[in-house]
Amino acid sequence: MNNKFDLTDNVIFVTGAAGLIGSTISKYFLENKAKVIITDLNEPGLNAFYDNLDSSLKENCLSVVLDITNEQSCIDAVNASVDKFGRINTLINNAAIDAKFDKENNSKVNQSRFEFYPLDLLRKSVEVNLTGTIIITQVVCRQMLAQKSGNIINVASTYSIVSPNQNLYDYGNGVSQFKPIDYIASKSFIPNFTRYIATFYAQDGIRCNAIVPHGIENNHAEPFVKNFSKMSPLGRMCDREELTGPFGFLASEASSYMTGSTLMVDGGWTAW
Ligand SMILES: NC(=O)c1ccc[n+]([C@@H]2O[C@H](COP(=O)([O-])OP(=O)(O)OC[C@H]3O[C@@H](n4cnc5c(N)ncnc54)[C@H](O)[C@@H]3O)[C@@H](O)[C@H]2O)c1
Repeated sequence: MNNKFDLTDNVIFVTGAAGLIGSTISKYFLENKAKVIITDLNEPGLNAFYDNLDSSLKENCLSVVLDITNEQSCIDAVNASVDKFGRINTLINNAAIDAKFDKENNSKVNQSRFEFYPLDLLRKSVEVNLTGTIIITQVVCRQMLAQKSGNIINVASTYSIVSPNQNLYDYGNGVSQFKPIDYIASKSFIPNFTRYIATFYAQDGIRCNAIVPHGIENNHAEPFVKNFSKMSPLGRMCDREELTGPFGFLASEASSYMTGSTLMVDGGWTAW
């Protein structure tokens, strides 16, 4: 029987592969016989992820340090991928800067109100999340055009669609914190960028869709989990493994008639 979800020999280029979502989906793709180029700016993180892979998975994996904001770095990474695997079937634009609220990474800057949010941080997020996403997509699209085929998956956010409910970040301890504007500004462009690329390349065999993860459980403080659960229709955070099916679907032929769409994987967050 023809399995439309089959990922065997799908050459998948993942940005931000050392991170929470990037490492989860890269491992899933490798376990499902795809060939995966894991890329990230964080070299130690990337090395640690690669080193921890089963040796049976390593032969289908190429690890490349990449800064998506640097065009030459993107060109070098794409060339290395094509040298090793001959093509790139799927690009996953996953790398991004995002203010963290888990116990390990919550920072004081999360206490900055909108009217005082530091502009250097805004510019940095726009440079990575918006400009960097465009640069790596430009470079990969040159390769996909030469191949006459390709598939792009952009990782958006519920904050590409709706505003954060700032009550989520109120732990009732008298310390005000906020999801900052840099993330909202730089991720809001993803759904429309997806439609732009989908229609620009529709006649060239290249499709492009976005996916919206939300609230991936990662050692968050108890009040955060409690607030989140109350606000979520499914009443809980997302287990990272619950993202692998939707990513696998968009990367596979099972989604062949989808382009320009934004797939919500948010536990219903944006449904009410
Ligand atoms: N975690 C969530 O709950 C959640 C929810 C919605 C959307 N997202 C989106 O999912 C994606 C991944 O998020 P995550 O939670 O895994 O984040 P993460 O911080 O764990 O991973 C992001 C990775 O991007 C890398 N990166 C940053 N700048 C880079 C650059 N210039 N070039 C190359 N790599 C760079 C970082 O080194 C990091 O490894 C992001 O696009 C984020 O907006 C995450």
